Amino acid sequence: MANIAKLLAGRAQHVLQVAAKQTQLTPRFFASAANLEFLKHEVTGEKKNVAVITLNRPKALNALCNGLMKELSQTLDAYEKDKSIAAIVITGSEKAFAAGADIKEMQPNTYSQCIMGNLLSEWTRVARCQKPIIAAVNGYALGGGCELAMMCDIIYAGEKAKFGQPEIALGTIPGAGGTQRLTRVVGKSKAMEICLTGNMISATEAEKMGLVSKVLPADQLVNEAVKLGEKIGTHSGLIVQLCKEAVNTAYETTLQEGLKFERRTFHATFSTEDRKEGMTAFVEKRPANFKNN
Ligand code: CAA
Repeated sequence: MANIAKLLAGRAQHVLQVAAKQTQLTPRFFASAANLEFLKHEVTGEKKNVAVITLNRPKALNALCNGLMKELSQTLDAYEKDKSIAAIVITGSEKAFAAGADIKEMQPNTYSQCIMGNLLSEWTRVARCQKPIIAAVNGYALGGGCELAMMCDIIYAGEKAKFGQPEIALGTIPGAGGTQRLTRVVGKSKAMEICLTGNMISATEAEKMGLVSKVLPADQLVNEAVKLGEKIGTHSGLIVQLCKEAVNTAYETTLQEGLKFERRTFHATFSTEDRKEGMTAFVEKRPANFKNN
């Protein structure tokens, strides 16, 4: 017991150290939007602290080819290191968030090529991002597109969004979390139905299932996602990162271990200036001025 608590305390301390280091880094130069083939990105919001990454491969309904996933990873690397960015929004077009992995690219693959080339290994980057990521889903989020949305922390959907895992109709199965993340979110019966039929579900159904946290008119979707990012950005980036890690731990461990991790992380916040500032500001009836320390 004592060992687990020690391990968890050590992990929380490590997260604090990494986060503190990151907040000291200055933004690095990275490929400008003009250099990117498959996506666009910009920094927006009143305080210019929310990054919006727009998948931009319209002719293929944003099918997630290797090039697109590499560009997404690079862009996330840069925004993760940029201390001025509090949250990241990933979106697509009105017709498609993403219609899945690129079937045409995968079609000639053999089993050994998949293994030797470590197919889909680039995809884990999104789920490893330490900053909050909001998926703003309009149109199709199918296969890898639905999986990409589920790798994000929060999903907002446009009224006409459609989610699904249609891999079964292609003679394969989801390969980037569809059978795992979806099952944890919506439960076995619904996940089975979605994965075994390949049927699409509407935004309203997805919201009912807890896959999506809000359904919005399509033309307001990205703005609302940015507002959400801005709201998160009013808090300490350091503590947001710890909180995200604690919620994600709920997916990785037993309830008892998760609760211990949460408590130790809560205790660890008492070693930060931002915790001191947050509580002092409350007592002094003034807004908190967080410094990510
Ligand atoms: N890969 C490659 N190209 C795709 C694509 C995909 N996943 N989805 C759409 N496209 C291409 C189409 O081939 C078409 O290209 P051409 O004009 O060159 O023919 C173009 O995008 C427009 O698509 P449609 O003409 O099919 O558009 P539609 O409006 O009639 O239908 C759709 C839209 C229902 C989304 C349909 O395109 C579709 O079923 N797409 C495939 C969805 C799918 O099966 N996704 C799972 C992929 S596998 C996967 O993701 C594995 C994993 O777990 C990582």
